[in-house]
Amino acid sequence: MSSRTVIRGGLVVTASDEIHADVLIEDGRVAALAATGTPAAEAFTAERVMDASGKYVIPGGVDGHTHMEMPFGGTYAADTFETGTRAAAWGGTTTIVDFAIQGVGHSLRSGLDAWHAKAEGNCAIDYAFHMIVSDVNDKTLKEMDLLVEEGVTSFKQFMAYPGVFYSDDGQILRAMQRAAENGGLIMMHAENGIAIDVLVEQALARGETDPRFHGEVRKALLEAEATHRAIRLAQVAGAPLYVVHVSATEAVAELTRARDEGLPVFGETCPQYLFLSTDNLAEPDFEGAKYVCSTPLRPKEHQAALWRGLRTNDLQVVSTDHCPFCFTGQKELGRGDFSKIPNGMPGVENRMDLLHQAVVDGHISRRRWIEIACATPARMFGLYPKKGTIAPGADADIVVYDPHAEQVISAETHHMNVDYSAYEGRRITGRVESVLSRGEPVVTEREYTGRKGHGVYTPRATCQYLN
Ligand code: URP
Ligand code: ZN
Ligand code: ZN
Ligand code: ZN
Repeated sequence: MSSRTVIRGGLVVTASDEIHADVLIEDGRVAALAATGTPAAEAFTAERVMDASGKYVIPGGVDGHTHMEMPFGGTYAADTFETGTRAAAWGGTTTIVDFAIQGVGHSLRSGLDAWHAKAEGNCAIDYAFHMIVSDVNDKTLKEMDLLVEEGVTSFKQFMAYPGVFYSDDGQILRAMQRAAENGGLIMMHAENGIAIDVLVEQALARGETDPRFHGEVRKALLEAEATHRAIRLAQVAGAPLYVVHVSATEAVAELTRARDEGLPVFGETCPQYLFLSTDNLAEPDFEGAKYVCSTPLRPKEHQAALWRGLRTNDLQVVSTDHCPFCFTGQKELGRGDFSKIPNGMPGVENRMDLLHQAVVDGHISRRRWIEIACATPARMFGLYPKKGTIAPGADADIVVYDPHAEQVISAETHHMNVDYSAYEGRRITGRVESVLSRGEPVVTEREYTGRKGHGVYTPRATCQYLN
C-alpha cells in the first residue's frame, strides 16, 4: 500500500484560507502544502498523484449530529453504521459524531458499550460519540466524569419527549453543574415537551391527525421558551451550552441575546430548516410524514433568521441530525395519528452539497461553508486540528470537490438506506469527486473504493471552541 499521495493544482479552501496549492500526504496525514507551480510543490513526489485542477480541495466534512440505527417510536433508524457512513463518505463527510443512548434505569456505560458494539468494524469513515443522558442520578453524574476522561465529552439532554428521553429542569441543572466541573458540553434539545404533549392530545381529540399538525403543535414559541430556559439554567450552572437543531426565528433571537451578553452559548441548525418548510409537511396523501422531525420544519419565513445567524456566528454549526425512517413501513406507523410518525429525516449524504449550493446562491462565503461544516464542528467537539482542516499534521481527510458539476438529488441515486429523499429533484451545482479518509481513497472519481472497518473510533478532547 503506497503511503504518499499528492493532490495537485486545486484551490485549497479551509475556514481561514483559500490558496492554489499542492497537498502532500504521508502515512495518512497531511505532510506539507506548497503553492502550485513553485519549486517546493514540484519537489513533492508520491506513488499516487491526484489532479485537482479546476476543483476545490477541502477538509472532509464533520457531521456532529447523526443517529445511525437509533431506536425510536418502536422502530430503528434505517441506516446502520455501515450504510450510513458509506453514504456520508459519498457526500464528502469523513467524520460523524453519533449519539449513544442511556436507557432509563441503565448506566451511561452500558449505553456507550452498546453503541461501540454497533459501530465497531462497520464504519467507512471515522466516528465518535456523544452521550444521551436520559436518567440523571448520582451514579450517572459520576459516570459523566469518566466519559469525559475517555473522550466522550458532550452530553445531550431533552426538554422534549416526556417519558422517553425527557429531563426536568432539576435534572438538567445537575448535569450542567457537573459539566461545568468536568469540562463536558451539554447539548440541548430545546422544546417544551410537557406543553407540546398537551397540544398533541388536544389536536388529536379534534381529529387533526395529518403530518402537518406535527408542525402546528410543536410551536416556535415553545422552542424559544425552552431555549431561553436552557440558556439561563446553563448560566446559573456556569456551564457552556450547545443548542441542537435550532429551527425558529424566536430561538435564534434567544441565542443572539445570550451571546450579546457574553455567554458561552452555541447553536446548530440543519439543512432541513434552511431548505425545507411547513409546505413540505403539508404535502398531500401522507407524504408530509417524510418531513416529520423535531424540532419541526417551520414556515419559510424562518429561514432568513437561520441564514443570518450563520453569517453573524450566532449559529456556528450545520449538522444533519440524520435519522432516516423509510416512508414504507416506518413513517407509515403514524397514518391516522401524526404523533406516531417516527421523528427524523435523512441527510448525511446531502449536507456538503446543499451548503455548497448556499455558497452558489450567496447565503454564505466559501470559507464559511468549510467553517460551519468542517472546522467549527471539529473544534466544538474536540477533534481539531486532527479533523476539520487541511494543515501539516492533520488527518488526510480530504475531499476533491468539483464546484461546476451539476447534479439532481434523488433517492434513485443516493446511497442512504432509505426509500425517499427529502430533497428529491433539487438541482445542485457542485459535487464530490474524490474522498480520502486518513489518506486512503474512499471515493475515487465517483467510484466507491472504501471499505467497512476502515473507520475507527476517535476519542475527543473537550470543547475547543471556548478558547
Ligand atoms: O426528529 C429528530 N430530530 N429525531 C432524532 C432525535 C432528535 O431529537 O435529535
Ligand atoms: Zn482558481
Ligand atoms: Zn433532538
Ligand atoms: Zn438528533
